[in-house]
Amino acid sequence: MNKKKILVFNWKMNPSSKKEALKLFTALKKSAAWALKKGLKLDFILSPPAVYLDAINQKNKNTKIILSGQDTFYKGSGSVTGGISYAMIKDLGAKMSIVGHWERRSLFGESNKDVSEKIKVLLGNKMKAIVCVGEENRDQRGHFADFLEKQIRESLAGVEKFQLKDVILAYEPVWAIGAGARQPVVEEVEQSLVLIRKILKKIFGEDSKKIKLLYGGSVGESNIQELSEILQLDGFLLGRASLNPDTFEAVLKSFSD
Ligand code: PGA
Repeated sequence: MNKKKILVFNWKMNPSSKKEALKLFTALKKSAAWALKKGLKLDFILSPPAVYLDAINQKNKNTKIILSGQDTFYKGSGSVTGGISYAMIKDLGAKMSIVGHWERRSLFGESNKDVSEKIKVLLGNKMKAIVCVGEENRDQRGHFADFLEKQIRESLAGVEKFQLKDVILAYEPVWAIGAGARQPVVEEVEQSLVLIRKILKKIFGEDSKKIKLLYGGSVGESNIQELSEILQLDGFLLGRASLNPDTFEAVLKSFSD
């Protein structure tokens, strides 16, 4: 392994109690400390449910684990029932937030415009944004390329070139996310990443290189090694694999081989 890799642990709406969350965090802390001791070039980002951020933040001393939200509203406060703002998660230790995850887009009807507002508010408040994009279908005729271009253009609308160092783009094809999904073939991921780099260059020119690119969707111990060979990749977003200590330990171990 040559290039340093970012690993985002996205717990989604899990686990269902604070006690379990702290137990899982302890396991992650142990694994991250092991990786550090081994000299593995890895950065750890943990996105727990917002309700656990405070408790985890208090226990996140002397680790290299960076905390992140899973979503944020685009205002600091106000009449937004059920909303959680960037200011609130920042206050509880989050340095960044995921935005535009497919589950937010599909279950909560979030549009590219919503995503762009969220990114702008994060970047404008000295936080980073982990922006998820990805096609629903990978059609043979290549329509997915147009879909991706529109999604990326609209989601990143209004982002200034000087802010690009704080943007992490996670390519998460919808067909590869979650239980029962199809595992991606390395070539498919490579092809999409080349395409995404081209789209970003069209929008931001040479500055687009400052954007980090991650892959997410069915990443686990069986495919992490081959996916890590992809040159364009700066890291991975782990969903299910982030919930099982045996699995994420195995994923980390594969980086030491
Ligand atoms: P998965 O989820 O790793 O469980 O497929 C990834 C994601 O949705 O971020």
